Amino acid sequence: MRYRKPTPHPSGAKPPKIKADALPRHVAIVMDGNGRWAKQRGMARTKGHEAGEKALFDVVEGALEIGLKEVSVYAFSTENWRRSPEEVRFLMNFNREVIRKRRDEMHERGIKVRWVGRRQKLWASVVKELEEAERLTRRNTAMTLNMCINYGGRAEIVDATRALALDVAKRRIKPDAVTEKLFRKYLDEPKMNDVDLFFRSSGEQRTSNFLMWQSAYAEMVFMDVLWPDVDRLTLWKAIEIYAERERRFGGAE
Ligand code: IPE
Ligand code: IPE
Ligand code: MG
Repeated sequence: MRYRKPTPHPSGAKPPKIKADALPRHVAIVMDGNGRWAKQRGMARTKGHEAGEKALFDVVEGALEIGLKEVSVYAFSTENWRRSPEEVRFLMNFNREVIRKRRDEMHERGIKVRWVGRRQKLWASVVKELEEAERLTRRNTAMTLNMCINYGGRAEIVDATRALALDVAKRRIKPDAVTEKLFRKYLDEPKMNDVDLFFRSSGEQRTSNFLMWQSAYAEMVFMDVLWPDVDRLTLWKAIEIYAERERRFGGAE
């Protein structure tokens, strides 16, 4: 399949040369710092979210250029409903419009878009747009982009547990058969790879409930840059840091 090449970075920068086996297969990104970016400029928080759109799509192009196979972005958490009704409403409308607007360019570049998150409470119009994008891009193979909207790690684990408990109650599964491998099948996106690199912008050093199960052995990279100021160069830097890390998975030399 021939896909459209990613647009180069405005500076003409090319991705650093990293050996294929040192590249993370799955990068999880907490896109944080939009509100602070706007505040620094005396603007409304929502202006920061708007400015974050460009950052996201530059990062997506950089991910394609360097050869990532899977990227997950945290766009709205199960805890973000705690924000003001105005900000929640803005984020719902904004997410829907961004997906609609960017769907075709993602499709042309061979990106498979998947929605990861809870249906409950999420606006039906947002779900509809996400499902439309999933349908359109389902056969693409260049890279998978998991759009995590109304996502929470604990919610995902609890929902999986409930579905599994139901199967046990119905005697479809014996309690003894419950293993990590089986449990994973009940997660929102069973095909998702474990997270290799967990990246968060804005300087905060916490996971905020993102991909808890999948990030058990992720390498954490936190950078002191607000999300609207992030671009593919930031992603490449995080990948270079990752490539220098020694991963052990509990083993020893
Ligand atoms: C991240 O930026 C975007 C979402 C959570 C939707 P924030 O809105 O959290 O920005 P800060 O952390 O307040 O600066
Ligand atoms: C995490 O950022 C959620 C997203 C980026 C969507 P938050 O800004 O909501 O997280 P906290 O409140 O700082 O932990
Ligand atoms: Mg934040």
